[in-house]
This record gives sequence, C-alpha cells and structure tokens, in this order.
Amino acid sequence: MVDWVRLELDVDGFDDADFEPYLVRARDSGVGFTTMAEAGDTAAGHRALYDLNRTCSADIPDRGEFYTYDDYVTQRIKVPSYDPAGIILATREGAWIGMSSTSLHPAEGQAFSEMTGVLAPYRGQGLSLALKLLAIRFVRAAGYRRLATFHHPRNASAIAMNRRLGFVDRPG
Ligand SMILES: CC(C)(COP(=O)(O)OP(=O)(O)OC[C@H]1O[C@@H](n2cnc3c(N)ncnc32)[C@H](O)[C@@H]1OP(=O)(O)O)[C@@H](O)C(=O)NCCC(=O)NCCS
Repeated sequence: MVDWVRLELDVDGFDDADFEPYLVRARDSGVGFTTMAEAGDTAAGHRALYDLNRTCSADIPDRGEFYTYDDYVTQRIKVPSYDPAGIILATREGAWIGMSSTSLHPAEGQAFSEMTGVLAPYRGQGLSLALKLLAIRFVRAAGYRRLATFHHPRNASAIAMNRRLGFVDRPG
C-alpha cells in the first residue's frame, strides 16, 4: 500500500512577495502565463491540456497508465470542481510548457492542487513556483483558505516544491 504524503497550505499565511521573483524571472526569460479561461475553454484547449498533463504525469512514480482522452474529459473537466480560471498555463513561443490545475470543493471548504507539471527541458528554473503562485492567487480569489494536495512518497521534486511554498503535513 502506498503511504501518500498529504500536504496542505494555509493560504492566509502565504506571502506572495516571497515567490513573486520567480514570476518576474520567468516572464523576463520569455515565458508567458495564462489560464484555460483566457486561452479558451474549448475542445482544442482540453486536448492540449490533456497532452501536457499526460506528458508531465509520465514522470510521477508509479503513476500507471494515464486516462484516455475521453475519460480525462469526463473525470477531470466535465465535473463541478473544474474551473477554467484555475488551470494556470505557462507558455513559450505559443507552446504550453507547464501547468498547475486546482479544483474547488465547497462541501469540504478547501481547494485541491490536482496537478502541477513542467515539461522536462524547462525544469529547475523556478517555473513550478511561478505557476503555483498564480494558482494560490486563484484559490484566494475564490474565497478558499486551505489548499490541499497529496503525492507519492517517491515524488521527491513535487514534495520539495510544495514544502518550499510552505505546504505542511496534513494533521491526521
Ligand atoms: C515537480 C515539478 C513540477 C517541479 O517543476 P520545476 O519547475 O522543475 O520546479 P522548480 O524549478 O520551480 O523548483 C521548485 C522547488 O522544487 C524543488 N525541486 C524541484 N526539482 C527538484 C528535484 N529534482 N529534486 C529535489 N527538489 C526539487 C526545490 O525545492 C525547488 O526550489 P529551490 O530551487 O528553491 O530549492 C516537475 O519536476 C514536474 O513536472 N515533475 C513531473 C510531474 C509531477 O510529478 N508533478 C507533481 C505531481 S502533481
């Protein structure tokens, strides 16, 4: 059985200023940021999101087989917790190179960080921190104070990324 690493962030305690330099640096290097809502929440956009998510997910330990496109749309997009404004995208020369998707769960009073991924050639440059800064702003603007996530215990980079942002182990 997998002993998942369950993390959460106190959104009120998050200081944007600590991570703003990553956003500035990325923009200065030619990376753009947008959302699914701005880019167009269309079938073509869903397909591009699926392709990016699938490529990045291939590096998640023990991820197993990824969704088919139809299953992805049914289970990840056509669900009440999906909000195209919560799908943050990093772009370079028109191509999507990174994503951070967040779903909203009013009944649980929390937002959930579904997937953050950066294409391999662009890793190690602080892009995930810039993406998550924008994701956290989305969570705050939506009125949520808690952002949760969980990771496979061997996903060291993802766990370190979230701890760097201030995520802590979930009580219980
Ligand atoms: C996890 C992932 C999104 C990190 O993206 P990235 O843009 O390369 O990360 P950053 O350059 O922004 O690094 C952010 C922090 O993460 C940590 N980190 C990133 N890569 C790391 C690695 N290989 N080993 C250990 N820590 C790492 C560091 O703490 C780093 O902060 P620092 O440089 O100030 O120490 C990327 O590796 C990825 O897409 N992995 C595959 C998909 C995945 O596993 N996603 C998470 C599941 S939802």
